[in-house]
Amino acid sequence: MVQFTLNGRRVSFEGSGSRRLLDVLREDFRATGTKEGCGEGECGACSVLIDGDVVDSCLVAVGQVEGRDVLTIEGLSSPLQQAFIEHGAAQCGICTPGMLLAAHVLLQRTTRPSADDVREALAGNLCRCTGYTKIIEAVLSCGT
Ligand code: FES
Ligand code: FES
Repeated sequence: MVQFTLNGRRVSFEGSGSRRLLDVLREDFRATGTKEGCGEGECGACSVLIDGDVVDSCLVAVGQVEGRDVLTIEGLSSPLQQAFIEHGAAQCGICTPGMLLAAHVLLQRTTRPSADDVREALAGNLCRCTGYTKIIEAVLSCGT
């Protein structure tokens, strides 16, 4: 059994600890906001926060999160979400949960990031649709 905190709630997973966290989140906990893109740690669509750090959940076995704190997009409440809507920063939306989580961590660590800070923070999150400009604008609008 693997026990961890998911979006602020203590949860238990009874299956194999070697299953991918991505699959357990989507299939067992219905946290389907976490997306699969490449499945190889390249695209960031599967990003979640583990103890506050951005991690590709396709590369993590669920057994590795024993006792840890996992946040998915379902647990995020941030002005970034409204900003993405207002700036048209989401199109197909596959990248969006990971973008939001990575941007959230950036804003926690850097209250007024530059455009370069945003580009760097989102470098592990690929987007095929938006050209990034609107995403960067949305994140910058949330700097304080
Ligand atoms: S699906 Fe995990 S990084 Fe692409
Ligand atoms: S909105 Fe489609 S991949 Fe980013």
